[in-house]
Amino acid sequence: MAEATLDEIVALCKRRGFIFPSSEIYGGVGSTYDYGHYGVLLKNNVKAEWWRAMLQERDDIVAIDSAIIQHPKVWEASGHLDGFTDPLVQCLGECKRRFREDHLREAQLGAEDAEGEIRCPECGGELSEPRQFNLMFETHVGPVAEDGNVAYLRPETAQGIFINFKNVLQFARKKPPFGIAQIGKSFRNEITPGNFIFRTREFEQMEMEFFVPPDSAGEWHESWMEERMRWYTELGIRAGKLRLRPHGSDELSHYSSATSDVEYEFPMGFSELEGIANRGDFDLTQHAKFSNEKLEYVDSADGSRYVPHVIEPAAGVDRAMLAFMVDAYEVEEVEGRERTVLRLHPRLAPVKAAVLPLVNKDGQPEKAREIHHALRGLMATEFDTGGSIGKRYRRQDEIGTPWGITVDHQTMEDDTVTLRDRDSLEQSRIPVDDLVNELVGRLAQPWTSPKPTA
Ligand code: GLY
Repeated sequence: MAEATLDEIVALCKRRGFIFPSSEIYGGVGSTYDYGHYGVLLKNNVKAEWWRAMLQERDDIVAIDSAIIQHPKVWEASGHLDGFTDPLVQCLGECKRRFREDHLREAQLGAEDAEGEIRCPECGGELSEPRQFNLMFETHVGPVAEDGNVAYLRPETAQGIFINFKNVLQFARKKPPFGIAQIGKSFRNEITPGNFIFRTREFEQMEMEFFVPPDSAGEWHESWMEERMRWYTELGIRAGKLRLRPHGSDELSHYSSATSDVEYEFPMGFSELEGIANRGDFDLTQHAKFSNEKLEYVDSADGSRYVPHVIEPAAGVDRAMLAFMVDAYEVEEVEGRERTVLRLHPRLAPVKAAVLPLVNKDGQPEKAREIHHALRGLMATEFDTGGSIGKRYRRQDEIGTPWGITVDHQTMEDDTVTLRDRDSLEQSRIPVDDLVNELVGRLAQPWTSPKPTA
């Protein structure tokens, strides 16, 4: 079985309104995307599943939503102002294009740090010496652009959590081990964005900082690696397509003492979905130093105090969404015809059930609309009368709708409908009165992808 290519996913996203290239009417702007209706629904479901795993299914994590523009000192303290850089090289030949040196070394010499000559991949020209390029987007706060009012768009949501550590300790009455979770946009002025929504300059992160007593950091790091792998597989990603890869000492971020990446085998190869880092006490210590605030935990029982260490699972929303789509995409032949189907976990599917009158007459559209109205308060449903039933099923298969409810001639006589399963294509007859229980029950069941791993 062929795995999905990136081109197939891009085409499906455009065709079915998941994702569009941004500013298309002006010729587009490199590597920025706008999410359409089904893209918004799928993305919301990915985020909702993350919140569910972080908040609803545990008692030791609280939520936060911090500002994108923070005090510039935050980025001084965090080390981003000095250390959040990528090595930039420029072509000295014909094309003058700019590239990330480490990416070129990997592509041309097999490893990011391999010694040897690299050339411009576009025109073969000689390349400049590398210089460190800071990835933060700079702006000015207020009407006049002056040195004194420089600000940055956050390059990670994590710092908004560290600077609220004291607030949360006080108001959420938490003691380590506990976590603070956040979903939000971050911005990085990437030298070479690419691979559709995998690497973009504006993206969404799902980050959780878990504050622990220092001597239990190693144990919690292990436990979060296991937990995060479980999240992806329970949401249907095939286990054979996932791996956990520890960082070598030369690729660790400036704040990390150990990081492992959850990687998915995308069409362009295994690439990072999420980094799970042991940040130690780096961030709290730095912010304590720069802000003169005490950022530590004091045990009220015995007065002992310590700076908690931090375990951070940091995932990309857009990357997760791309992985779920790639993993779900399948083209198969059914009764001599090609069918494209997104075998998404039902909880991730943008639409759970499509209610379809078989014909557009005899009271069937009205009955179908009635069923749609009864279901839509409980789950995302669609009512669709446009085109032949086969065409409507194909459309729903392509957006990953797990169940089709068809109202037909018999419905008008005995108040039953057919319930079509996206994956098995089985159709069962079911009383309209049982639909809510049946679908709510199916949504709560564990689900595994029927797709074999190639
Ligand atoms: N906070 C980790 C990251 O942004 O990758």
